[in-house]
Amino acid sequence: MDRIAQLTTRPAGREIAYDPAAAPPSLQVRAAQVLEGNWTGQSTVPSRGLYPHQWSWDSAFIAIGLRHLSPLRAQTELETLLAAQWADGRIPHIVFNPSVPLDAYFPSPDFWRSSAAGRRAGAPRTVQTSGIVQPPVHALAAWLVHLADPGLSRARGFLARAYPRLAAWHAYLLHRRDLGGGGLVSVVHPWEQGMDNSPCWDRPLSRVAPAPARSFRRADLDHGAPEDRPTDLDYGRYVRLAADYRDRGYADGPGDFAVEDPAFNALLAASEYALARIAHELGARDPAREARAERLTAALVERLWDPAAGMFLCRDVRAGELIPERGVSGLVPLLLPSLPSDLAATLVRTVCGPHFGLGGTTRLVPSYDLLGDAFDPHRYWRGPAWFNTNWLLERGLRLHGERGRADALRKGMLHTAGASGFAEYVDPYTAQACGVTGFGWSAALTLDLLHDRPARGRNGLTATKGGDRE
Ligand code: SER
Repeated sequence: MDRIAQLTTRPAGREIAYDPAAAPPSLQVRAAQVLEGNWTGQSTVPSRGLYPHQWSWDSAFIAIGLRHLSPLRAQTELETLLAAQWADGRIPHIVFNPSVPLDAYFPSPDFWRSSAAGRRAGAPRTVQTSGIVQPPVHALAAWLVHLADPGLSRARGFLARAYPRLAAWHAYLLHRRDLGGGGLVSVVHPWEQGMDNSPCWDRPLSRVAPAPARSFRRADLDHGAPEDRPTDLDYGRYVRLAADYRDRGYADGPGDFAVEDPAFNALLAASEYALARIAHELGARDPAREARAERLTAALVERLWDPAAGMFLCRDVRAGELIPERGVSGLVPLLLPSLPSDLAATLVRTVCGPHFGLGGTTRLVPSYDLLGDAFDPHRYWRGPAWFNTNWLLERGLRLHGERGRADALRKGMLHTAGASGFAEYVDPYTAQACGVTGFGWSAALTLDLLHDRPARGRNGLTATKGGDRE
């Protein structure tokens, strides 16, 4: 019996049900129950109601937690996603489940029309996907999943099958998406970066004419409170950008929106380190990968570091300027091992300073500047705290020797995850749940934090530079 079954069934085989007279199920059991409930047989939905398909970076974070329960399921999660890769190397941000009704989620497969509109870019014929991408957390996830059970991984040829796909994915990003010409990847839609309505996008998005409100129907408002979700105006702009990209056959090049984002590029660098480890495990030395990770780190510093803000900012490639907004994305490069130590120290000061409040005013690191004009503690990526970004920062703090702060953040995340019912996101001051509960990566990353004892000082990225240990 694998760990999922052990944790979610009683010896008699009955599901664990909530019984107020009995001791409450542990945080670990509750997190496992969320992942069990969101499992479709091939992958894990972020949320049964709001997000009923497979999402790319969600799946990567989910696999990182799922590996502690079922390494086989974690491998399957990533394999299902990789099977939907396009011939040009892109991994789509959504893989649609054909058994889910079209009106359950918008934009639905008939909006993206991937197999027709994406034919020249090599979209798969048999599975329907979106045509945009999400942050490249996948190679890091694949490496961590392998480490959870190397014997099973080797027996199934997990890394041998994943490696060429992951390498093609990175090649797509590095060769087709360097729209600024400075060695960094650009996102062409706010959904690609994952922090959809971050105030960082307000300026570049203002140039995009919104699609008329009557031309589409939002399905997200059937599940979430409107004040927790993006506005209709932002939605109209998302639809316009996606439709224009589709109508260009998903060809990369000129478009209204192109932004170099610190988190997206830092995750690519982290995944390049992980690919180097994967190549080594497969018997191939690949020094070019580590060198590429270091080049990406250097390009991040050169193009996106803002000394006055004490953090990284986004670059608006079309306008040729940094965007003067502090989003949590600009702290995520802390997870890179070759970040210069003075920059790492500055980032730590910024996380703990008045703009993000860690260890002071906030329970978890907010998604946006507490002092910013656009700050809103409840609205999607305009202020609330998310578990994936906090998990990345916990690793970054630990990597750069900030063990006390990392331990405190870990404790805050575990407490908040349990108290909020594994909320999608929370008010950073009060930890009040926002969005949906029973959210996939909130549960998965809780399991990962529970599994790793802080004393180990673990970080999957130090492993990519040194020993085999996670
Ligand atoms: N996060 C976006 C949504 O809310 C797109 O993936 O649907």
